Amino acid sequence: MATDNIKNQNEDYELDTLTNERLIKDHDYDGIRELDNDLPPWWKWLFYISIAFAIVYLVRLFVFNADDLVQKAEYKAEMEGFEKSQPEKVAEANFEVVLLTDDASLANGMATWTKICAACHLVDGGGLVGPNMADNFWIHGNKVEDLYNIATQGVLEKGMLPYKDQLSNKERLEVVSYILVKLHGTTPATPKAPQGTEY
Ligand code: HEC
Repeated sequence: MATDNIKNQNEDYELDTLTNERLIKDHDYDGIRELDNDLPPWWKWLFYISIAFAIVYLVRLFVFNADDLVQKAEYKAEMEGFEKSQPEKVAEANFEVVLLTDDASLANGMATWTKICAACHLVDGGGLVGPNMADNFWIHGNKVEDLYNIATQGVLEKGMLPYKDQLSNKERLEVVSYILVKLHGTTPATPKAPQGTEY
């Protein structure tokens, strides 16, 4: 190790008398020394500014609860914007399957029933290819959710089609509500023999 030209100048660093460069004490790796250069001013300023920024940020966040920094408020604002821009999507996501009994919904349900479902279940719900809807026997359950799920997913291997894409959530709910409110409990002209479990 060439130590001849290095003098102990200071408590903190050593000086290379040939090049006049400051060297960090005790940082000697097989003769390779580390320079003790000052940090560049631009770097130091960046550091000071980031400290000042952090202080301002923390005070605004925790002391003044600044709205634009609080994540919950930010999230809420984003969601409100989304709800305004895409009302149909929000309605789909919040869709609740609850039996509809109002006249308008049942009239819409009847229209869908006559147009699409009656081909297999008959207009009066007596059943043909599909089961009788008027009796107390159900293959897949008698709750509105059960009927809604069948109208949505279908039972393809038994010949019941899925209406997920053809009918909207609302239209499917209207037609199964029509089944439960208007067809169930009636006496069809040519009732199909009961299928499934009695409820
Ligand atoms: C192509 C004939 C066909 C059409 C059209 C059809 N269905 Fe069906 N449906 C069936 C068959 C077959 C079954 C019996 C499925 C089984 O055995 O699991 C069935 C069963 C059902 C069930 C379950 C009944 C039970 O006992 O659990 C519901 C609810 C139902 N259909 C509603 C509808 C609605 C609503 C429509 C119109 C949007 C419709 N179906 C149109 C053939 C059809």
